This record gives sequence, structure tokens and C-alpha cells, in this order.
Amino acid sequence: MMSDLLLAYSEAHTTPEPPVLAGLNRETHLSQVYPQMLSGHLQGALLRMFCQMIRPERVLEIGTFTGYSAIAMGLGMTSPPAFAGMPSPGTLAGMPSPGALAGMPSPGALAGMPSPRTLAGMPSPPTPLPQERGGVLLHTVEVNRELEDGIRKFIHEAGLEDRIVLHIGEALEIIPLLNEVWDLVFIDADKPNYLNYYNMVLPLIRPGGFIIADNVLWDGKVTGDPAKMDKDTRGIVEFNKFVHQDERVENLILPVRDGLMVIRKI
Ligand SMILES: C[S@@+](CC[C@H](N)C(=O)[O-])C[C@H]1O[C@@H](n2cnc3c(N)ncnc32)[C@H](O)[C@@H]1O
Repeated sequence: MMSDLLLAYSEAHTTPEPPVLAGLNRETHLSQVYPQMLSGHLQGALLRMFCQMIRPERVLEIGTFTGYSAIAMGLGMTSPPAFAGMPSPGTLAGMPSPGALAGMPSPGALAGMPSPRTLAGMPSPPTPLPQERGGVLLHTVEVNRELEDGIRKFIHEAGLEDRIVLHIGEALEIIPLLNEVWDLVFIDADKPNYLNYYNMVLPLIRPGGFIIADNVLWDGKVTGDPAKMDKDTRGIVEFNKFVHQDERVENLILPVRDGLMVIRKI
């Protein structure tokens, strides 16, 4: 979709890959048959930045592979364990908050203004503070047991063992066992099940929460002849059509890399 030249330019003008992700990227290319399944530098930076914007407390990832996107999102999730039990960074007297450092008002600086949860004029139930929910957590599900040791090694190297919970097994069996309300779900596993994952997780997402689904342009095959589509392409096409017609959500296809569907639960 994007020329190699523009891709190289974009990567060169994006905050460099954190060393742990660069190492994981390299090792995945050396050890895996399909290393291109990994999100990579640009998409990883985008997922990290989404997390910095949304500030989710609970993230679910479906499809870990070697752990790149899980670690990228984990690095972007705020309220690290170091802050547990302390006021949020934005309210620490005398200390610049991350937002203030970037020259932008921090959430703490916006005190007194209605929060996004109340802007619609609808009172919402009080949201427990991150520390009341046990800190920020990302659950990630991977069916391929052979990947487990490598994933755990890099979660450890990233210092995210307290934040990332790895589940090995079938996503459709594991998700119902996780008793959580999700702020963000990243769908990136087997394509024929995309719609099943969507239907399973949408009721578990808080209003205003997000789903991001990867590969929704599927190397351009989504615009091909429907009669000649393989099972994976049909799964993606069915998912894209259903989401677009679903009145419970707003959606946007970002033509980044292989296409990211960004979905907001209304
Ligand atoms: C595209 S890769 C994920 C890439 C990863 N999210 C990243 O960006 O680095 C898809 C992964 O989903 C896993 N997967 C496929 N079917 C699954 C299932 N039913 N349950 C859980 N994981 C599954 C595959 O084994 C594979 O590792």
C-alpha cells in the first residue's frame, strides 16, 4: 500500500523502536517462519501511542505471536506499579506530569472540567481507580505453546511482568474465563474467527471503550472477486461489513500497514 521509500521515511521520522522491541523484532526474524506477522516499528509505535491517549486500565490482546504488540502496548500503559497507591502523576504537587512535559495540559491540569465519561450528559457509575482494580493489566492470549518461553523472556526483559498476563490456549475458550471489563481489545489472531471475537468481546467492553483489529485490508484481497476469496479473506470481509453496519459502534479503517479497524463502542 505504501511505497518502500515512504515507509523507510516514516520509520526514520518516528521515535526509534525501544531496544527491547528491536531485539524482539530481530529474534523473531531469525527464529520464526512468518516473522511478518509481528506488528513492527510503525504499528507498534501507533499501538503504544493509542494506549498513551486512551490510558486503558484493562487491555485484552487476541493473538500474541512473539509478544511485540503486547509489549508495545504495555510500554504505553500508564499507572505503572511504581505509582500504585500514590496520587496520579498529574496531581503530584510540584512535579511536572508527562502531559505537561510535552507542553500539553495533563489530565491533572484539567481538574474541574467534565471528564470524557460525563461529557455526554449521562452520569456513569464511578470508575474504580487503577490501584483499586489492581493496577493496569494487559491480558494476551496465544494458542501456540511453542512461543511461550520466548514471549515470557521478552516480557521479563521489558520489565512488564507485573503488567502483562500471558494465557496459552484457544482464545474463544480463555476470554470467557477472564472476569474483566475491557477498555481496549486488540484482535490479531485467526481471521475466520474475527467476527466471533468481536461478538464475544463487545458486551465486555465499557461504553466509550475501543477495539482495534489488525489486517482488515488483508494485503488488498478484501476488494477481490468474492467468488474466489479464501477462508481468511471471507472472514475479514464478513467482519468489516458487520462492524460497519453495527449501530452499537463507530468505526474507522486506517490504511496503515495491512489495515487497522478502529472501533469505538457507543
Ligand atoms: C498475526 S499473529 C499476532 C501478532 C502480534 N499481535 C504482533 O503484532 O506482534 C497471530 C497470532 O495469533 C495466534 N492465534 C491464531 N489462532 C488463535 C486462537 N484461536 N487463539 C489464540 N491465538 C491464536 C497465532 O498462533 C499467532 O501467533
